[in-house]
Amino acid sequence: VPAPSSPLSSTSLPSVTLTQDELKKIAAYKAVEYVESGMVLGLGTGSTAKHAVDRIGDLLRQGKLHNIVGIPTSRKTHEQAVSVGIPLADLDSHPVIDLAIDGADEVDPHLNLVKGRGGSLLREKMVEGACRKFVVIVDESKLVKHLGGSGLAMPVEIVPFCWKFTARRLQNLFEDSGCVAKLRTSSGANGEPYVTDNGNYIVDLYFKEDIGDLKAASDVILQLAGVVEHGMFLDMATTVIVAGEMGITVKNK
Ligand code: 5RP
Repeated sequence: VPAPSSPLSSTSLPSVTLTQDELKKIAAYKAVEYVESGMVLGLGTGSTAKHAVDRIGDLLRQGKLHNIVGIPTSRKTHEQAVSVGIPLADLDSHPVIDLAIDGADEVDPHLNLVKGRGGSLLREKMVEGACRKFVVIVDESKLVKHLGGSGLAMPVEIVPFCWKFTARRLQNLFEDSGCVAKLRTSSGANGEPYVTDNGNYIVDLYFKEDIGDLKAASDVILQLAGVVEHGMFLDMATTVIVAGEMGITVKNK
């Protein structure tokens, strides 16, 4: 994998104002430069990862990449990958992935992430936990000093059984830091719970300040019966590609 040798490198972009989606696309295309023929690829989910999947499909069609096998992180990405002609498999047949490319909701200075505001955190964590290299692609709005400090959600996937009980216990875990737990609902579905690809619900945790000790928070959340997985991806990203008005920055672990 042709990773830059320095922990941080930058490339300038032309001085025009780019939309957030254009920045996402720039980060995604840069990440696809890491893809080589013959690789098993983890295919992320979301509006940024979508550009990477499209690009991989383009390169396959143009004959510039061969023998790629994609492992999608959601049903949506599965459908998209099929539509652009990427051959697919799963973790059962390919337990080791060469490279995964995915977006994130927040990235801290240590390359820890919040993911899952798009609802695919469990499959993303399974796939990205099985890869040799995990390249995260974001526009600069996703950079934060501390995870959970932006007033936005840190998602937790839970089983539907007695979800209120589990949501209350999650909130109680962080009551000292004024955490509020809210069940995610589907837009336009009369407040019906949002159901993940795995048939579970998502409780979004909103922190007053920030999450604090990430490892400790991860441990207590995962100890609760009823919790399936949370959206903190700690020490998993090997590279983060950030596209901003000032250019592309590549941060390596
Ligand atoms: C989905 C995710 C996404 O990667 C994350 O929400 C970022 O999405 P986008 O690229 O649309 O901003 O974790 O579960």
